[in-house]
Amino acid sequence: MTSKRIPFICGNWKMNKNQEETYTFIHDFLKRIKQSPSLEGREIGLAPVFTSLFVADSLLKHAKVKLCVQNVHWDDSGQFTGEISPTMLKEFCVSYAIIGHSERRKFFGETNEKINLRVKGALKNNLKVILCVGETKEERATGKTKDVVKQHLLGGLKDISVAKINESIVIAYEPIWAIGTGLNATVEQAVEVHQYIRELLDEHFEAGLGQKVRILYGGSVKPDNIDGFMAQGDIDGALVGGASLDVDSFIRIADFR
Ligand code: PGA
Repeated sequence: MTSKRIPFICGNWKMNKNQEETYTFIHDFLKRIKQSPSLEGREIGLAPVFTSLFVADSLLKHAKVKLCVQNVHWDDSGQFTGEISPTMLKEFCVSYAIIGHSERRKFFGETNEKINLRVKGALKNNLKVILCVGETKEERATGKTKDVVKQHLLGGLKDISVAKINESIVIAYEPIWAIGTGLNATVEQAVEVHQYIRELLDEHFEAGLGQKVRILYGGSVKPDNIDGFMAQGDIDGALVGGASLDVDSFIRIADFR
């Protein structure tokens, strides 16, 4: 890593692990990372399902590993069946909310407008945000990658101040065709989009912002490809799905060289 941005490795457990499995994983993980001095100076996060939040909170509240959530609503309370408000998350030691994940966009119809509301709700309640952006296979094949990434980024960050973006936003570039498929983007493909995101931040918000904001890569990150991604100055970390479900595999990813 040539940049001064703090590397961030975040596990996104999606709809996996009940309370007992969450307890076992985190308990083991915390014990193991104590023996890994190379994890110093890195940020590590885990995003369990909401039903495991209490268990995860009890283990992580005095630990360095950050508790994250997989989504958040924008309002404090009200008639929003099935949603969790940002103020409710304040009862737990939640640091980050993943917002705009492609599975939310694809299976639950989340639009850039809704995602922007969620981002604002999180920020208003002092939650940091991991905003996900990324193109489908067809969009890449038809040369639309940059257009889509631009819409996701500018839509998600609409009316958010430069100061807030700088302080509280992490971007995750996740090409949808690479998620859960075992088919990761090449280092070159990832770097090209990361650099483009930095250009967009400079152009649409403030010159220099692009060098301050952390941008993670996500999509089939594994122990055997993490080192290649993290050797790139423009890649500040990873959002890891499948490979974050196993302690050995997630430790090796967090312990990238
Ligand atoms: P994956 O998922 O690592 O299983 O591809 C990444 C993500 O969706 O965040």
